[in-house]
This record gives sequence, structure tokens and C-alpha cells, in this order.
Amino acid sequence: MAVDEGAVDLDLELDRAHSARMYDYFLGGTTNFPADRESAGKAMAAFPQVLVAARANRQFMHRSVRHLAQLGMRQFLDVGTGIPTSPNLHEIAQRTAPDARVVYTDNDPIVLTHAHALLRSSPEGRTAYSQCDARDPEALLASPEVRATLDMSRPVALSLIALLHFVPGDRTAHAVVERLKDALPPGSTLTVSHVTPDFDSAGLARALKAYEAAGTPVQARTREEFTRFFDGWELLDPGVTVTHRWRPDPEHDLTQVTDAEAACYGAVARKP
Ligand SMILES: C[S@@+](CC[C@H](N)C(=O)[O-])C[C@H]1O[C@@H](n2cnc3c(N)ncnc32)[C@H](O)[C@@H]1O
Repeated sequence: MAVDEGAVDLDLELDRAHSARMYDYFLGGTTNFPADRESAGKAMAAFPQVLVAARANRQFMHRSVRHLAQLGMRQFLDVGTGIPTSPNLHEIAQRTAPDARVVYTDNDPIVLTHAHALLRSSPEGRTAYSQCDARDPEALLASPEVRATLDMSRPVALSLIALLHFVPGDRTAHAVVERLKDALPPGSTLTVSHVTPDFDSAGLARALKAYEAAGTPVQARTREEFTRFFDGWELLDPGVTVTHRWRPDPEHDLTQVTDAEAACYGAVARKP
């Protein structure tokens, strides 16, 4: 879509913390405001490893997208994209496959106002941004950007990276994932990363209180709960791991962190 920030009357709610801007702060970005930094500071005080966890998660996105492009995936649907942080998903995919097509979606208007950075596609490929709420997968799948950019009869790499912990309620989260999985043809892939209480439940619970106090409920999920998102699909090697252990790359600086620091599971699966 063409993004004209001036044409839209957006309420960015700068007086309250937003998860996208807190994550941007953890990654060292500049698209965050005092309310975001205050809540992010509380989360960091409770759980100092959140900075490492955010970077390990972002590096998991880089490695998983590169791997999928190397496996031949040419269409990507990224839900819960976040504020652009280079390299963005299309930059990684198009380094391997310049003709890759990518649709980004998020429900936070701050992402919309920065979406121009997501639309700088290679000439051979294509990118689009759709403002959507993941909890309404029908609307997401029907969005003009998805329909115009992706051929849903060919495999699509769906990514829900550090998104689903912001979708509380197991029935809701699993229903969303199953609806999106159903819409994709065989050969499609699903990539998920997700906060887990499995390694430092007390520290994480304190950090999540900072999100809840800011009006953003977060649900950490155990390995078993996380693995259920892939039901019926075939996990790619190495299966479910903590993010920093998923096909580690010597170029990434976080291969030596602990599971409690990374604090998120990551996995990729293929539809049979
Ligand atoms: C922690 S960031 C992750 C960004 C990126 N996927 C990454 O891992 O680097 C979570 C993103 O999910 C978005 N988000 C949260 N709930 C959402 C929902 N219901 N629908 C769409 N996006 C959502 C937030 O706005 C935020 O941009």
C-alpha cells in the first residue's frame, strides 16, 4: 500500500507504552517515547536479560528467513512485524532471492507511520504493508495487500515472530494460528518465536507485570504449549529450540547466551 502518514489521523497513544516501541527500545532503536522507556525500564529492572532476549529473537528472524529463502521460499507473510529495524525481513529474503515477495502486517499505528522503510523492495521482488489485527485472521487474509502481493495457491512462509505472547488465551491464539495455517497450500512454512516461562519463571513474571501495568497483557507459554502451534506440520531441523540455538550462525554474537537469557522458543515447520 502507499503509506501517506499525513493523510491519516492516527492516534499513536504516546502517553502510554506500546509493545512495538518497547521492543524498539530494547533493540537500541529511536522510535520510542517516555512512556515506552519508563515501562521498558521497569521490565529491564525486573528481567535484565530482556535486551539479550530481544536481540536473540531478532537474530532468529534473520537466520530463519535466510534459511527459508535458501530452501526456495519466495513468498513471505509476516504478522506482527514491529517497527522497521534494518535488516528487515524482505532485506534478508531478497539477499538470497531478489524476486521474493513480502507482506508485512501489524496492528500498531506507529508501525504504519514507519512502513515506508518496509516498502523499499528490490526491483525484482515486491513488498507491501497491511494494517491488520492478527486476532482477525479473516480480515488479514482478505486484505488487498495480501491478495495483490501473494499467490495463495503457491507456498507461503508465514511468520509470527514474538507476536503470539501478545495474544492471550490459548483458544484464541491457537484458533488464529490454525486459521492462517488452513489458508496456506502444502509446502508453506510456519515460523514462530515466543516467550517462555520454562527457564526463569519468577524473573519473567516480574517483567510481564511491567507490560500488564502498561495495558498490554502477555502470556508466556511452555514448550508443550508452544509446540502445539505446529500441530499437523513437520518441524524442520533442529525442531523446537531456544531462539539462540536454532541453526546458530558464527556471525551472530549471541550463540553463547544461556536459555534463561534468550527466554524464547523458536521453530519452523512445513505443511505436508
Ligand atoms: C515484540 S514485537 C516483534 C516484532 C518482530 N516480529 C520481531 O520479532 O522482530 C511484537 C509486534 O507484534 C505486534 N502485535 C501485537 N499484538 C498484535 C496483534 N493482535 N495484531 C498484530 N500485531 C500485533 C506489536 O505491535 C509489535 O509490533
